[in-house]
Amino acid sequence: MPTALITGANRGIGLEFARQYTADGWTVIATARHPEAADELKQLGADILPLDAADPASIDALAASLSSRTLDVMIANAGVLPRGVDAQGWLNGFATNCIGPTLLAKTLKGNMAAGGKVIAITSKMGSIADNGSGGAIAYRSTKAALNAAWRSLSIDWQGDDIVLAMLHPGWVQTDMGGPGAAIDPKTSVTGMRETIAALARDRSGSFLNYDAQDLPW
Ligand SMILES: NC(=O)c1ccc[n+]([C@@H]2O[C@H](COP(=O)([O-])OP(=O)(O)OC[C@H]3O[C@@H](n4cnc5c(N)ncnc54)[C@H](OP(=O)(O)O)[C@@H]3O)[C@@H](O)[C@H]2O)c1
Repeated sequence: MPTALITGANRGIGLEFARQYTADGWTVIATARHPEAADELKQLGADILPLDAADPASIDALAASLSSRTLDVMIANAGVLPRGVDAQGWLNGFATNCIGPTLLAKTLKGNMAAGGKVIAITSKMGSIADNGSGGAIAYRSTKAALNAAWRSLSIDWQGDDIVLAMLHPGWVQTDMGGPGAAIDPKTSVTGMRETIAALARDRSGSFLNYDAQDLPW
């Protein structure tokens, strides 16, 4: 069966990805900052490895423990929503939402199977064209930076047999999205898994909604 690696898989959207891929019989490598406390993940039978997405040394340690394991899907899902615009929170936002996922993709590139899918969970709030309401300066800027970085990666990797995409999960009922969000994690992840499964080489570098609709940059 194929293998998926999912970051930030101890709760929210990442946990739902782990739940759905394990239910389909995939091998799931799920990362969490604190594996010992990831009780729901443990019940799924996923391989749980530690990862602090904001720490480059932690990314290197993950790569070392993966060694030559092959990944069919890699989902850089871990993310934070910085509140306000204080410098420290904003910097942590860049480290977690942009620098970490990009270093992770570059570091694990050699682990990807032929035709493997490398996915960033971004946000429509990173779209400059879609920004009609302002606010959320720190979060928006970290996701816009993620989109810019991954768009470049997709161009740099055009000669490789790897498909890369940035997915907006929708407004989802998680700790981050809040209870009043529009859709539940099951709906979001079901849609994203279908979108990932259908991604073709010529769509690499796309910025897509969870239901595969193109989003404006
Ligand atoms: N929910 C929405 O409406 C929505 C909308 C658009 C985009 N997104 C994106 O979807 C992704 C998942 O969000 P969510 O709604 O599931 O949020 P969530 O419920 O707040 O979960 C966030 C996950 O990211 C992990 N995380 C945070 N900082 C980390 C770090 N430095 N290293 C490793 N893991 C870290 C958390 O781990 P801990 O438990 O250790 O904190 C947790 O597993 C994020 O990238 C988010 O920006 C969400």
